[in-house]
Amino acid sequence: MIRAIAFDAYGTLFDVYSVGALAEQRFPGKGAELAALWRDVQVGYTRLRTLSNRHADFWQVTEDALVFSARKLGLDLTDDDRRRLMSQYACLSAFPENLGALKELKKLGLPLAILSNGTPDMLDIAVKSAGMTGLFDYILSVEAVKKYKTAPEAYQLGPDAFKLPTREILFVSSNCWDAIGAAWFGYTTFWINRSGQPLEELGAQPAARGRLLTDVVAYVKNSIKEPS
Ligand code: LAC
Repeated sequence: MIRAIAFDAYGTLFDVYSVGALAEQRFPGKGAELAALWRDVQVGYTRLRTLSNRHADFWQVTEDALVFSARKLGLDLTDDDRRRLMSQYACLSAFPENLGALKELKKLGLPLAILSNGTPDMLDIAVKSAGMTGLFDYILSVEAVKKYKTAPEAYQLGPDAFKLPTREILFVSSNCWDAIGAAWFGYTTFWINRSGQPLEELGAQPAARGRLLTDVVAYVKNSIKEPS
């Protein structure tokens, strides 16, 4: 039985590749490549920093990843470019179906949270600019434990906030590695596979999968109707 839902933020609620459009204006023909590399390096840096106990917050990691990715692609990233891309990152577009799906989930009466690597400030601005104010009971940032997902301390923020057993919380992510990290921790997990990615080869599976946040609504309605 699902009694609460925690969402990953970047890639799940907010479209991290939407910065590619701005990057494309500045670096024609390279925008999508820069956005994709930027995201990969950002996630890689979070893991390195947590593994080596060298925490820096997600804003810093995101900026460092941008600087490195531009350098790697041989792009001339000026201070102004860096500032503009970072401010675009602060208010990423939300995926189009998200607001409606979140409102439907909220109507079901389940408490909702964001559980993200983002800093409290980043999450606050992103939620406001996506028109999602008031939809979440908790906005949980790993800054509270200074360890990035998939560290157990990061995932522990969910059951601590909801005061529920982990398996009764549905953790929703479009990052397969995050859905699997959460499954390892004990959540019931839903992987939103937006772009038809293959399952990560990690010896574990999300409990459920779909393509859009609206698929989560159907899954939750069903789980409330037929508790297992
Ligand atoms: C987050 C990253 C993992 O929001 O997408 O935590």
